[in-house]
Amino acid sequence: MARMAADDIDSRIKYMLSDMTLDEKIGQMTQPEKNSIPVEDVTNYHIGSVLSGGGGNPEPNSPADWRAMTIAFQEAALETRLGIPILYGVDAVHGHNNVRGATIFPHNIGLGAAGDPHLVRRIGRVTALEMVATGVHWNFAPAVSVPQDIRWGRTYEGFSQEPELVGELGVAYLDGLQNAGDGRGLRHPHTVLGSIKHYLGDGGTTWGSASRFPWHEEIWGERTRITGIDQGLSEVDETTLRRVHLAPYERALRAGARNVMASYSSWNGIKMHAHRYLLTEVLKESLGFSGFLVSDWKGIDQIDPGDYYASVCRAINAGLDMVMVPFDYRGFIQALARAVERGDVPQDRIDDAVARILRVKLEMNLFERPLGDEALLERVGSSEHRAVAREAVSRSLVLLKNVHQALPLADHGRILVAGEAADDIGLQCGGWTIEWMGARGPITPGTTLLEALREGSTGDVEYDPAGRFSESGDLAEYGIVVIAEPPYAEGVGDRADLQLPPEEVDLVERVRARVRKLIVVQYSGRPLLINEPLAHADAWVAAWLPGTEGAGIADALFGLKPFTGKLSHDWPRAVDQVPLSALRNGTGPPLLPFGFGI
Ligand code: BGC
Ligand code: BGC
Repeated sequence: MARMAADDIDSRIKYMLSDMTLDEKIGQMTQPEKNSIPVEDVTNYHIGSVLSGGGGNPEPNSPADWRAMTIAFQEAALETRLGIPILYGVDAVHGHNNVRGATIFPHNIGLGAAGDPHLVRRIGRVTALEMVATGVHWNFAPAVSVPQDIRWGRTYEGFSQEPELVGELGVAYLDGLQNAGDGRGLRHPHTVLGSIKHYLGDGGTTWGSASRFPWHEEIWGERTRITGIDQGLSEVDETTLRRVHLAPYERALRAGARNVMASYSSWNGIKMHAHRYLLTEVLKESLGFSGFLVSDWKGIDQIDPGDYYASVCRAINAGLDMVMVPFDYRGFIQALARAVERGDVPQDRIDDAVARILRVKLEMNLFERPLGDEALLERVGSSEHRAVAREAVSRSLVLLKNVHQALPLADHGRILVAGEAADDIGLQCGGWTIEWMGARGPITPGTTLLEALREGSTGDVEYDPAGRFSESGDLAEYGIVVIAEPPYAEGVGDRADLQLPPEEVDLVERVRARVRKLIVVQYSGRPLLINEPLAHADAWVAAWLPGTEGAGIADALFGLKPFTGKLSHDWPRAVDQVPLSALRNGTGPPLLPFGFGI
């Protein structure tokens, strides 16, 4: 179909709205998660969007099974009277990361360290292709959070503590998702809709202010009772809110962002999901956002926890256009229909919400490309795509220390490798990988650092996860200890104590005693307190959460690629230097400053 002008889109929306029943309109505003809705209910309820949450995978989990799953939902949507396609949404936050076999890139904190918008744009492109292959059109990414407190379990989802860098890379990522480079933008069949999230102030909440609701306990268990920061209160004035947290949104909107996700957090005592001033007056009216706003997962339930009807009214009246319900879609639909009948939600607000959703679907040319592109399946996890990820890994590494010419490694010296993480794809990938929380072990195909070291070295590479090497004989030339945070996502990763666990400190010491040159490679979603072990190592590499391509680390260790990464966060020497405001209020210099990298 020929390019549709804005006027055509407007008249088509007008025509569709005039033809739609209230039920059809509310259906467009409803987003259930795939395990909660039988396929035929997409037809029965005229559903506008379906999502897979973290780990919302088909069984078995392969790219082809993913495709079969999304296409079944899509076909159900195409069977409705109006045949409006659904937008199938996922969190492809470091590659199409729920899909076993997909290319997994470094999490955003590592891309912030790489600091290269061209690289980030290419990552967005590859991610879009792998998504379109599986019939998925909407990515709940990029997070343009500006994490100010590294104790937050979502620190790694943000590019940096600095709004400038977040804006620059957020725009680049969005451009990779939404623009195949031929000027057609989202009309190109190989693009996906991005979502900038979480609006507004998710990265600015105060330690100890985390929200906890009864349903969190089911998901988070024990961790629910731990004081945290996720989904908390952003206790900053409006000037700070705008300067730090809104700035990346302004840039991304100018660059073509068409979807925004609301934050679980609160500002000025009001949940963002009910914040009419920030959702409607600032975002839609003053910044002129004409795309649509989606809620977060069960996010509206937090508005008025005892009263779902009131929550629905407040959310929609505040300006949310689509609701990630995600379970009881019938309950949501009934509540909203009743609200319109009673006049608690004006008909105009419904029409505006639906117009926004339809506008984006039309701008994407979704009606002509509802099924994605099966021919792309063979490119999911292809060597060409993995090469981009491998490059991104090398570029994301930050060399924190290098003395006694520990690096680069000679390709023939004897190397003792220790740490479970050295040979564990799951630990290498972190949260939001196959499962919401990620998982240890061979959860998806990739190359571990150990495999890459063996591949790259002609010398002896000995491996013992616990670092118990023979104590007789000469010292080995090199020791490489790989330490890792266990995988986590969201509030489960909130952590007051940023110390390395004592076992890891011991591991470093144990290997130290057996080698001439000790190199530590750290997998983590944020800086940790490393003062002492750092002093004992000859070289230290912050590798963040690199993803499936461990060869990118080996490339840099062997000197085949230079170290060019720079810290995207200040690296504290003590926990009293966290959050950033404490550091800036004069708790002394950090261990290593933002921008540092050898
Ligand atoms: C889902 C995630 C979602 C979370 C919200 C999980 O069960 O898998 O996608 O973000 O719940 O609490
Ligand atoms: C997260 C969002 C995510 C959604 C869907 C929520 O728990 O906060 O970032 O997009 O789940 O998985």
